[in-house]
Amino acid sequence: MQRSPRVLIFASAGEVAEALARRVGEALAHKPDLVLGLPTGRTPLLLYAELVRLHRAGEADFSRAVTFNLDEFLGLPGDHPSSYRAFMRRHLFDHVNADPSRMNFLDGAALDPLQECERYEGAIDAAGGIDLQILGIGTNGHVGFNEPATELEARTHRVTLKPETRHSNAGLFGGHPDRVPTEAMSMGMGTILHAREAVLIATGESKARCVARVVNGPITTALPASFLQLHRHAEIFLDRAAGQTLDG
Ligand code: GLP
Repeated sequence: MQRSPRVLIFASAGEVAEALARRVGEALAHKPDLVLGLPTGRTPLLLYAELVRLHRAGEADFSRAVTFNLDEFLGLPGDHPSSYRAFMRRHLFDHVNADPSRMNFLDGAALDPLQECERYEGAIDAAGGIDLQILGIGTNGHVGFNEPATELEARTHRVTLKPETRHSNAGLFGGHPDRVPTEAMSMGMGTILHAREAVLIATGESKARCVARVVNGPITTALPASFLQLHRHAEIFLDRAAGQTLDG
């Protein structure tokens, strides 16, 4: 029986990015109005650079693609340079032919965050659901901003960030963890698991222990990424360092 998530181990982080970018390019060719779920973080930077390269080579057309970002810091307007929306513009959207009216973000500055979370769920539904959800993983096993907890929320929700998560996002705030907002909004695990396909990428030794638990450990709210074991079409793309304790 094919186990889920399916694990693919590549020789390097660059090869992870190339393989996934190729997958996205092919999916766009097959379905130009593909609905993509997108992550932020250091890990997808190579992927976004590779997608820009493919686009310039005429192998990735984003003109009809619809995108939904996973999460956003609470309190930051989209034009704030530390926002995830600004991150996406810097690393992908300013360099490809994506249509701004088809890019979806949670509005970190929304006056009513709960209503904003509901709006986002409605927008995902109205787009017909997410076709391909790309994910990173925090060293504590979070996906999006679904932090380890005794209970998880299924749908897009407001969340308090763990100290380690604020620490790992400090790079966006001049290296100061204390400047990272204490709260965020994130798609829930249910939102993520409803995507038709999901690919989690992890590179580097710091993710190896966590990834091994995601693949081989029990499904637990203490490790939100472990819920990917419940998805029929989930894959994990690793470099050798992140996959060092697994057979790919
Ligand atoms: C942030 C994002 C996550 C991402 C994680 C990992 O916390 N909200 O979606 O997966 O960072 O970041 P990195 O790739 O830098 O390790």
